[in-house]
Order: sequence, then structure tokens, then C-alpha cells
Amino acid sequence: MTPDSATLPTPTTKDYSAAMRLWHWANWLLVSAQLITILFQRVIVKAKTAVPEYQELMSREGISLSEKQARSLTRVISERIWDWHVYIGLALAGLWLLRLLLELRGPSPRRFGARLTAALRRYRLAPPARGENAGRNLFSLLTYLLFYIMLAVIALTGLGLTYHHDFEWLDRIEHDLEEIHNATMYGIIAFFVVHLVGVVWAELTSEKGLVSRMISGSQERE
Ligand code: HEM
Ligand code: HEM
Repeated sequence: MTPDSATLPTPTTKDYSAAMRLWHWANWLLVSAQLITILFQRVIVKAKTAVPEYQELMSREGISLSEKQARSLTRVISERIWDWHVYIGLALAGLWLLRLLLELRGPSPRRFGARLTAALRRYRLAPPARGENAGRNLFSLLTYLLFYIMLAVIALTGLGLTYHHDFEWLDRIEHDLEEIHNATMYGIIAFFVVHLVGVVWAELTSEKGLVSRMISGSQERE
């Protein structure tokens, strides 16, 4: 309807390979599943807070449970959720390695490093009319970079927490690993929100077809 200046062609390649698209949606699934395990652990099941309920239930059966005994029973449930967290976590750590491989083996113009360098250069050299576009593109790539760093941190600390019993030096830093792992989760949640808002916004304004290109890889434009 209007000659839309915002739809000036974006000079980056926005078409993702099949491997990269598969990676993206598998990553989305696993990160969401990890967040759901935490939702269950901390909000829905909250096993620790069930100690008095276990004690009351048992006392109705004439069994007296000490707090310690009740706590070990509640732990059965939370351990099951943690087991799922670790399985999904191991898959996520594998996916992170796969992303590294795609970066190292992929065609050079599609590599993340090359796109980021090109976006930086474009941002510095863009004429004022294109500056906003270049800035937005650079910002989105920087959020992806941050996410990849956070994914590495959460995977490495998660692996540390999984295997800390096997290595004394990991055992000694277990508490720090927990703190870092936990804090990184909030960063990932923040990325999720910003990413979703950004992608939907771009889809509705300047980048029609962006989401379907991440699904089907087609280059269709309206
Ligand atoms: C998006 C990804 C992930 C999120 C949001 C996440 C979140 C969390 C949170 C909030 C905790 C509790 C930490 C605390 O005690 O304060 C935790 C614990 C843990 N996470 Fe993750 N994590 C993720 C990925 C991973 C990965 C990749 C692994 C590696 C296998 C992993 C393994 C573990 C282990 C072993 C624990 C300790 C469980 C326990 O206390 O028994 N996590 N995770
Ligand atoms: C846990 C959730 C998600 C994570 C961690 C995530 C992560 C990422 C990452 C890292 C990239 C950049 C890939 C690269 O260029 O190297 C990306 C791109 C993209 N994501 Fe997601 N994503 C998530 C959910 C979603 C959802 C729900 C949608 C659709 C509504 C979506 C749509 C897209 C699109 C369209 C792109 C390409 C954007 C562009 O070319 O700048 N993502 N995502």
C-alpha cells in the first residue's frame, strides 16, 4: 500500500540452512523443557514444602515420621525431576557442541562470526537513512552472541554439577557452580522474552516472513 522505507532489503543473509533451522527449534524445545523442569521444581511440586503434609498423612495411618524422614521421602519426587533436568541438560550441552560445529564447518558467509563482523562494519558505514536498520540488525546479532555465551556457561556449570561427585576440584566449587548456573537462567529467560518480542515485532513491521523462513527456509516475500 505504501512505499515502505522500512522494507529496504536487509543486506545480510537471513536464510538459514536446514541444519541451522533444525538446531534452532531443537534448542527452543530443550531450553523450554529445562525451564519447565524448574517451574515444576520450584512452583508446582515444591517438594521441600510438602514435609508437613507427608507427616500429617502418615500420622493418620498411625505412623510417626520425623522431619528428616519426611524430607527424604519428598526428595524422591524432586530427584525424579532433577533426573529429567540432567537428561535434557546433556542433550542441550550436545546441541551447544553441534552449534559450534555448524559455525566451524558452515559456508563462510553464513557463519555467525562473519555476519557479526559484517553487521558491525555496516553499522559504522551506514548512511543516516539506513542507520536504524543497521543498528537493529547489529543489536539482534549481539543478543544472539550473548545467548550463545550464556548457553556455554549454563552447559558447562550444569556438567560440573552433574559430575561434581567424580572430581574433588569440582566438588569444592559446587556451590559457586550452582550460583552461576542459577543466575545464568535469568539471563536466558530475559533473552527469551527480548527475542520473542523482537522477532514478532520484526515480523509485523519490517521483516514479513521472518518466522516462516526460520521454519521452512523459503525466501518468499510479500
Ligand atoms: C536452559 C538451560 C538450563 C536451565 C534454565 C537450568 C536451570 C537450573 C536451575 C535453576 C538449577 C537449580 C540451581 C540451584 O540449586 O540454585 C539447576 C540445577 C542443576 N542443573 Fe540446570 N539448567 C539448565 C541447563 C542444564 C544443563 C545443560 C545441565 C547439564 C547436564 C544441567 C544440570 C543441572 C544439575 C545437575 C543441577 C543440580 C541438580 C540438583 O541439585 O540435584 N542444567 N539448573
Ligand atoms: C528458547 C527459545 C529460543 C531460543 C533460545 C532462540 C534462539 C535463537 C538464536 C540463538 C537465534 C540466532 C541464530 C543465529 O543466527 O545464529 C535465533 C534466531 C531466530 N529465532 Fe529464535 N530462539 C527461541 C525461540 C524462538 C521462537 C519461539 C521463535 C518464533 C516465534 C523464534 C524465531 C526466530 C527467528 C525468526 C530467528 C531469525 C532471526 C534473524 O534472522 O535475525 N525463536 N533464535
